[in-house]
Amino acid sequence: MAELIELLEKEGIDRDLLSGVREFTKRYPADPAFADRIPKAPALYYGKEVWEEAIAVLLAGRNLLLAGPKATGKNLLCENLAALFGRPVWNVSFHINTDAAGLIGTDTFDGERVSFRKGPVCMSAEHGGFCVLDEINMARNESLAVLHAALDHRRIIDVAGYDLVQVDPAARFIGTMNYGYAGTRDLNEALSSRFAIISMPQITEDNMLRLLKESFPEISEIIAGQFVKLFGELTRKAAKAEISDRAVDMRGMLDALELIRQGLSSGQALEMTIVNKTFDLYEQTLIRDCISSRIPADLDRSVVFVK
Ligand SMILES: Nc1ncnc2c1ncn2[C@@H]1O[C@H](COP(=O)(O)OP(=O)(O)OP(=O)(O)O)[C@@H](O)[C@H]1O
Ligand SMILES: [Mg+2]
Repeated sequence: MAELIELLEKEGIDRDLLSGVREFTKRYPADPAFADRIPKAPALYYGKEVWEEAIAVLLAGRNLLLAGPKATGKNLLCENLAALFGRPVWNVSFHINTDAAGLIGTDTFDGERVSFRKGPVCMSAEHGGFCVLDEINMARNESLAVLHAALDHRRIIDVAGYDLVQVDPAARFIGTMNYGYAGTRDLNEALSSRFAIISMPQITEDNMLRLLKESFPEISEIIAGQFVKLFGELTRKAAKAEISDRAVDMRGMLDALELIRQGLSSGQALEMTIVNKTFDLYEQTLIRDCISSRIPADLDRSVVFVK
């Protein structure tokens, strides 16, 4: 997408990589039948290094795994990459019972005859899409074995009783995973070996400030700065194991501002979106102290949003 490329040029993303993307989109125009699956102008993912690594991996024809803590922009980056490369997206949310049929497809009976209904992996493989394997480590490793041949140099999917599906040269698989979430498991070596893995960092302070201003154009400069400092402090406390990482939640920070905009006080909003993310009462008091040293509990929208 032309505008996104221009934006990334301004972000200082390596020009050779961006010309690689231009060549890619020229060589592989997307099938107009799936135009509605190509993300349109998603909010920008901020993070130059991650952008460059991800683009390089996809240009090299490899699959990408985004591994990292919650709310580090993994899904946002997937959308951004699909928009940049102009690819339709098929998304699969993995869970404990994800099986081959849900990925590859399944036989269905339409009242007259049995036909094969292709799953998201087959569809993206055939139509040069980006297949997002979301929270890939929620599934059992055994049920993911069907993906091995699609993910490695063979680039095929052998559907029993059906054709051999060749993975289109423009198709890519992008996994996301979050270690530490309840219900997740380790990805086995057979799978992890088939991806280039980016360890997703928390957003930098400068970029968080830009994100807050972009999401809330009328936010007070001072308050935005305090939110950034607060997030940094929570991140550092979690890194030192003084608190768990439950309250280190970028999504919660954005939600807090949205709730204040709706009319709640800063105290109420941050209680719901940050403090209550942990259920440990002692930890809650540590987090509350951290918040109150930066953001008084009685701020309302007339103070937080000024313009
Ligand atoms: N680097 C970043 N650039 C832009 N937005 C970001 C960044 N990091 C976090 N965010 C914001 O955080 C929120 C969560 O993003 P997203 O849903 O992509 O995270 P995720 O890593 O997939 O989280 P989870 O592991 O919980 O699924 C979004 O609102 C996004 O705007
Ligand atoms: Mg996600």
